[in-house]
Formats: sequence, C-alpha cells, structure tokens
Amino acid sequence: MKNKYYPHLASPIEINGLTFKNRIFGAPMSNPELDPDCHMREEDIAFHANRGKGGLASVCIGLGIVEAVGRSHTKEVILYDDMSLPSLKRMANEFHKHNCMATMELAHGGKFGAARSHSGADYSLIGPNNELNAQGVQVKAMTDEQIEATAQAFGDAAKLVKEAGFDMVFIHGGHGWLLGQFASPYFNKRTDKWGGSLENRMRFSLLVIEKVREAVGPNFPIEFRMSGSELIPGGYDIEEAVEMAKMIDGKVDIIHVSAGIHENDDVFVLTHPSMFVEHGVNVKYAAEIKKHVKTPVATLGGLNDPDMMEEIIASGKADIIEVARQSLADPYFPEKAFCGKKDDITKCCRCYTCFFNYLSNRNYCCAFNPVIGDELENKFGFPATTPKKVAVIGGGPGGMEAAITAAQRGHAVTLFEKRDVLGGQIVHEKHIPFKKDMYNFVEVLAKRCQEAGVDIRLNTEITPEEVYEMNFDVVMSAVGAKPIIPNIPGIEKAKGLNVLEDETPDLGQKVVILGGGLVGSEVGIYLDMIGKDVTILEMKDTWAADAYWMHKVAMDQYMRKGTIDIKVNTKAIEITDEGVVCETAEGTIVVPADSVLLATGMKANREVANEFLNTAPRVFEVGDAIKAGRVVEAVKVGYYRAMDI
Ligand SMILES: Cc1cc2nc3c(=O)[nH]c(=O)nc-3n(C[C@H](O)[C@H](O)[C@H](O)COP(=O)(O)O)c2cc1C
Repeated sequence: MKNKYYPHLASPIEINGLTFKNRIFGAPMSNPELDPDCHMREEDIAFHANRGKGGLASVCIGLGIVEAVGRSHTKEVILYDDMSLPSLKRMANEFHKHNCMATMELAHGGKFGAARSHSGADYSLIGPNNELNAQGVQVKAMTDEQIEATAQAFGDAAKLVKEAGFDMVFIHGGHGWLLGQFASPYFNKRTDKWGGSLENRMRFSLLVIEKVREAVGPNFPIEFRMSGSELIPGGYDIEEAVEMAKMIDGKVDIIHVSAGIHENDDVFVLTHPSMFVEHGVNVKYAAEIKKHVKTPVATLGGLNDPDMMEEIIASGKADIIEVARQSLADPYFPEKAFCGKKDDITKCCRCYTCFFNYLSNRNYCCAFNPVIGDELENKFGFPATTPKKVAVIGGGPGGMEAAITAAQRGHAVTLFEKRDVLGGQIVHEKHIPFKKDMYNFVEVLAKRCQEAGVDIRLNTEITPEEVYEMNFDVVMSAVGAKPIIPNIPGIEKAKGLNVLEDETPDLGQKVVILGGGLVGSEVGIYLDMIGKDVTILEMKDTWAADAYWMHKVAMDQYMRKGTIDIKVNTKAIEITDEGVVCETAEGTIVVPADSVLLATGMKANREVANEFLNTAPRVFEVGDAIKAGRVVEAVKVGYYRAMDI
C-alpha cells in the first residue's frame, strides 16, 4: 500500500539492507553545545532527538571530528576518544525510541581547523598545501603518511559510531572541509598523486571510503556528502561533480549532493539557501548526478514543502530529501504531511535565526518554534494544574502562540483582536514573495488557534474595563508596538507599512523609504521587485545594521544589482510635495518622491499596555508590548508565559 497523500515521499527505501521508513532524512546539524570534554550533554541529545520525533526517517548529528587537528570549533563531538561512547549510545537510543535511524557525520576541518579549539597545543593545521590560512595560522601540506593516518582516523571514528549503536555514517566530503579541499581544484595545488587530475584529487576521499568500509563492514550504510558544484570561480562545477560521483558510485550507499563551500559568504547563502532564492535551488545538481549513478542520491537546500519534495522523488530527480532548518521550524512536518495535514505545517522561512543563535548564543533557536533550544525542559509538556479563564489581547504571533499553548494546556482562552484578521504586523508582508513562508506561519498559527479551541473574537477592540468586568484569571497582554514617527515638517504626508497589504499599493513610481534598517531594506527590495524606483534613507553609516549577517549577505546580493539607491549618513529633515529634504555630509539635497514610506522603527505600545495592568489577578505581557522586537522573541515569550499559567 502507498500513502494516500505522498506515495513517493512516504515510501520506505532500503539502503544496504536497512529499511528507512520514508524518504525524508534530517541533514547534519551540529550540536547546540557540548560539555567541556566535547561530549554531548543531555540538552544536546534532547535537541537532536526532538528532530527525530515527528517522522523523519533518520537524523544526522553534524560534525563528529575524527582527529584533534581537524577540529574547527567547540561544538564538534570528538570521535577520537572512547569517552564519547556513553553519550553517543544515549543519542542512538533516543533516536530509536522515536523510530528514527541514527546517523553520524564524520568530518575534518583541514586548513579551516581552528587553532583555538586545540587547548593551546602547539601544532599547525593540515591541508592539501603549505600556506597560511585566512586566520594567519600555518597550514602544512599533508604527507603521504599523514593522509594515510587521517584516512585511518575516519575509519576508527566510523567503528566507534557503529559501536555506539548508530545505523549509518555520513562522510563530509563537500563544502570545503578537508576531503572537499583535496577534491577541489580551487583549494588543492599539489603536484603529487594527491593533486592535479580529478583522479588524484579524489584519491583521498576514496581512501577514506575504503577505510570506513573496512571499519564498518560490508553491511553498514555509508552516506557521502559532496558539493554538486563549488559555486566559485576556479572551483569544480557539475561536470566534474558528475565524474566524482561516478568514482564513488557503488562504494558508498547514498550520494548526498549539496552545493558550495563555506568560506565564501556569497556561496554560504546558497549552501544554506536564503529567502531570496527559490526553494530547492540546488536540486538540479542532484538530478544531474542521479542520471549517471546507480547509488541512491539525496538532495537538499531550502526544501520545506511536501508537495515539492514529492515531485522531486516522483520525477526521479533524487531518491531522498534532506532537511536541516525545516526540521527545526516543524519537526512534525513529515507526520503532518503523511496524515494529509499539510496546511498545518509551519514552513521554515529561512530567516537564519537558527544560524545566528548557533554562532552567537551557542544554542539553537527558531523564529517559529519556541521549543528549539529548550528541548530538554519541554520534553514532556505540562498540563495545567488548575484550568483557568485566560484572555489574550492582540492576535499577533506572540498573542497567538500564547493562546494556543494556554488552550492546549487545558485553559479556557479568549483571544481579542481589534482587526478583522490575525497576524499583527506580519499581515503587511502578505504579498512580499520572499516572505511567503513568514506569512504562512501566521496563517498556520491562526488555524492552530481554532483547532486548540481558542474563542477568537475578531473586530473586537476590547477595553481594559470590559476585560476587568469579564473576570479573567489571567490576561496575556499582547497589544503590540506602534511606529516611531520622526518629528519633522511634512511627516503627515508619509505612509505606514500597512499600505503594503494592498497587492498593488498606491505609491506612484518614486518611493522613498525613511529608515534603512532590516525592515526598510526588505521593503525596498520588495518595491524594487514590483518595479518601483526606490531610494532608502538611513541616518547610520550602514544599512540593515540590525539584520543577521547571513541575511544581510543575501540582501546585499540583491542590493549589488544597483537598482535601489541606498543613501546612508543621510537624515531626512522635511517632507514636501516634491520629495524628502535631507541633510548629508555634502550638504542639503532633495530626493524626489511620489510617496514616502515610514520604516523608522517601532516602539512598544506602552500607553495601551499599561491600561491592561491589573485587569486580572495575573497579567503577563507578550511580544512587542514589552519591547518591539523580532518574531522569535514574541513567540518564545508567548509560549513560556503560557507554560507558567
Ligand atoms: C544551524 C545549522 C547548522 C548546521 N550544521 C551542519 C553540520 O554540522 N554539518 C554539516 O555538514 N552541515 C551542517 N549544516 C548544513 C545543513 O546540513 C544543510 O546542508 C543546509 O542547512 C541546507 O539545508 P536546509 O536548507 O534544509 O537548511 C548546518 C545548517 C544549519 C542551518
């Protein structure tokens, strides 16, 4: 029998004797953090296990490092230490409890190893060539003996992983990691048997595969990640990638085709596709490789929609779909899809909240999923101790998350929203193509509110007095933020971002945006896309200073087209019928405008929020009512306040 909704995606696949329950695998993601000995903590195990709960056939733990010199940062499990065994065993057990296969990535940073991860040990890094790396650390060209020893280290690591009860090993041969460095004509400048021709450049990868196979035996699946194109001048492209795939065909059990290298920011946002590129932008590489090999091929990159995944498998472009970020936004999406509930899926919007937090806060976080980063704490959920009567004032993402969580815990929840639609400020983004998944998020939240039994009162601008009279036990005040309006002459001529709710906003041709932060920059891109002449005015010396760096790189790729005029160090001092009068370092200028849009920021609606204080015995504030911020903060606070009731 086949699944009614996704007959191809839901069909099992046998890989070297092991049956994976469907075609959606969790792509490698490294650990949130590790203990001081570089072993996985309970929190790390809970993070990965959470990915495996909702129907993925397998989940891969990213970056198990096979020898000390190959470490590039502190989140990498060390697989050259038997003391990793206890936590790895716990991890494998957790996956198996959730009917999910356990996969471990074997990796080596090579020339991009980081000396500071080596606890003061005095040795240089290793790679294909003698050189200084970008951090100025000496890289020594690997000798034949070192290559042999490192290949053996991959084998030893694979043996440990198998002993720990994992079901598959995953060799990282792409993205500019050590094996990728050898395979790449861009990185590898050797003239001996390990460099030059493709055959020579692939020799190291083949040796590693041989050692791993020896270590795990013939009946244990090996997945090999390669880049289908390095996407950089001087790197290899799909033609060579096809030849590389043919060389490993039959020697590994899954050929996993990603794209790019990690040291180039412009490429990084294609390896981890940004919201500005189409979903599945890298599928074409897998599809081409699949034509030339017998081994099952996996594809990934910005995939979040089961319909698209089904099409990829059904049309034979790939055999397996892998997901990293989507498994955070909604770990239950395979289960929802296979049960015919695709409209309940929260789709990753590729905002890079996960990456930013992973790098800066040393934990994971997802703009849409408040559990991410706190999986251990949320492992069992909490029913309410005493069901209470709860009012939520405001139907933005924070208010909706609070309402859903409170209702799911057994409270009687009424949600009051003054508008005729739920979603708060995200409603402004309804027509922005690269924000489609963001808008989808609030639609899913609205649906979940209904399903959770929240009494939703639209078009209801409830007053504090009315709330007080209704005798709620708890009020969740999610009254949102209001725009900061610059005090300059003519400001009344400026329009708010709500005009974007109209599919064809009445703005004329020349649009000037006041404020070049993240919001103003995104709006500028959208208006440019729909054919407006856009100028962005920003007082600071840089635009989108508040954007996550990867998102800024992605926006910058668009800005480099040069069709948007961004004026930094520019202060608007008046709006006239002709346009915006500005002060710049060069003097006063007038920027002509048919319309002026306000993107000068938001501030908490404290006047309204204060009025709701004491309208019930317990009042919690949620989202922008506390401080204007990002969706991620609103959703987290909404969830955790509702958990406290
Ligand atoms: C936060 C984060 C951590 C990642 N960690 C790893 C890793 O440890 N090893 C690896 O090979 N890839 C890692 N990746 C890359 C993913 O495996 C995947 O190739 C990429 O995110 C594209 O897939 P997606 O669009 O489904 O997220 C990571 C990606 C993200 C977003």
